[in-house]
Amino acid sequence: MAEVHQTNVRVNQALRSRLPEVDFAKVSFGTVFTDHMFQADFVRGSWTDLQLLPYGPVQFEPALMALHYGQAIFEGMKAFRTVDNEVVLFRPRANFERFNISAERMCMPVTTEEVFMDGLMRLVDMDREWIPSLDNYSLYIRPFMYATDQFLGVRPSDTYRFSIICSPAGAYYSKPLRVKIESHFTRSARGGIGYAKAAANYGLSLLPTKLAQKEGFDQIIWTDAANHEFVEEAGTANFMFVINDALVTPPVKDTILKGITRDSVVTLARSWGMDVQEREVSVSELVEAMHSGRLQEAFAVGTAATVTHISEIGHEGKVYTLPAVEKREVAPKLLKTLNNIRCGKAEDEFGWLVRV
Ligand code: PLP
Ligand code: COI
Repeated sequence: MAEVHQTNVRVNQALRSRLPEVDFAKVSFGTVFTDHMFQADFVRGSWTDLQLLPYGPVQFEPALMALHYGQAIFEGMKAFRTVDNEVVLFRPRANFERFNISAERMCMPVTTEEVFMDGLMRLVDMDREWIPSLDNYSLYIRPFMYATDQFLGVRPSDTYRFSIICSPAGAYYSKPLRVKIESHFTRSARGGIGYAKAAANYGLSLLPTKLAQKEGFDQIIWTDAANHEFVEEAGTANFMFVINDALVTPPVKDTILKGITRDSVVTLARSWGMDVQEREVSVSELVEAMHSGRLQEAFAVGTAATVTHISEIGHEGKVYTLPAVEKREVAPKLLKTLNNIRCGKAEDEFGWLVRV
């Protein structure tokens, strides 16, 4: 298990913890926040004013650039409580690296190790009592950055705020998903920002997802912008398919978020000797595999989504029902293994955990 060194940060502790008022078992995703948050400001070319402070409102003027031109990025990661009552983060360095990739694409400053990693460690340590020990629960951590210049001209902001907030969370999806293969709207085009965890990617997904929900679906399977011919990802997770006993997932490229859960699942499945194919999956291949019964499983993988079964896939007015969830083997084994590693019941053979 890796250790991360800690640094000095200005600390302003909450006078009273809200923790006694919270029943983790009743908390739904993203609704309750821990006692503290971390923040740092980017001013005159460097990160300054690192602080831990009580979670609460932030003040800004209406001309805040982030609100007008969308320079806003975020990450999603989790801390877990192990069976030995230790607190661990799952692959936080991968989130740190991806955050800086998003920052570069959105013309924002990269964060330093001191700001992102040490801020994260200090915050999670401070609010460690907020990490549920219930099965399938964890602390969802949301680092984010936004432009803070007060200005209406279109240019990159000179100043930014980086913050981290935390929220105790159970499952994001509470049941298997019905998904629709999207053949009209587009999430991301070649040369665009699909690989960045930019707020804009989520804003644009809302209307198509709402329309799909009106048709009875939960989520969308995005397809390529050029011809809607190849499957890409969901609005909140990457997709995996089990076709003829092989684990198949679209390759990461500039239109897709390079999921950390996706990478973990691919690594685990390969270590079990499974045939893992990172390759283009065409819509017609998928439809054929559903018709012929070659599609044994489909599931979404992501930090919030963990491993979520797909029960139905809709395409051009037709809905295909996938094999019963109870008969599936791959997704449950992956979820169990990931959970066991995270809570210390299985060996962390790939060095994914960082102790806080
Ligand atoms: N794709 C999108 C659009 C997402 O929002 C997420 C969630 O973070 C993922 C994929 C999965 O990424 P990760 O496993 O790193 O959470
Ligand atoms: C995550 O899994 O961390 C996500 O960002 C998905 C969603 C909650 C936006």
